Amino acid sequence: MAKKDKKSNTLPIYILNGPNLNLLGTREPEVYGYTTLAQIEQMCADQAKTHGLSIVFRQSNREGELVDFLQEARTGASAVIINPAGYGHTSIAILDSIQILKIPVIEVHLSNIHRREPYRNHSYVSKGATGIVMGLGAQGYLRAVDAVAHILKAVK
Ligand code: DQA
Repeated sequence: MAKKDKKSNTLPIYILNGPNLNLLGTREPEVYGYTTLAQIEQMCADQAKTHGLSIVFRQSNREGELVDFLQEARTGASAVIINPAGYGHTSIAILDSIQILKIPVIEVHLSNIHRREPYRNHSYVSKGATGIVMGLGAQGYLRAVDAVAHILKAVK
């Protein structure tokens, strides 16, 4: 059953993370930074709180599980922030699951995928995203939380 934040009476923001993001902090830190995923979760929770919002934070290395999380977001979330990681470049299934949603979806990448290898320059997820934040490292997640708060206020 979807749980609304008591104070704001708003469903949580689902923050979803794709493959290998569980290794943040030690995974190619020169590209992705030294902040761990657990630290990003805490930072996002704190940032959401400043807007009177709450989060559900998940990571999976499996495409189907990310699809399951997105389906759960249909009734459980007020918005989705997703770093699809490598699946952004390959997964029509994740794009399909995003296009089913009727809530704001912000795509996040720690790195600027347009400055990187050509195979990272295209993201299927972008086609379904309300907005995109990239190249700002862990801070990008916080800017995405701010964007969601702004959009939700505007639509209330
Ligand atoms: C990433 C960029 C992707 O190309 C890569 O596969 C990732 C992380 C990013 O956050 O910069 O795993 O999504």
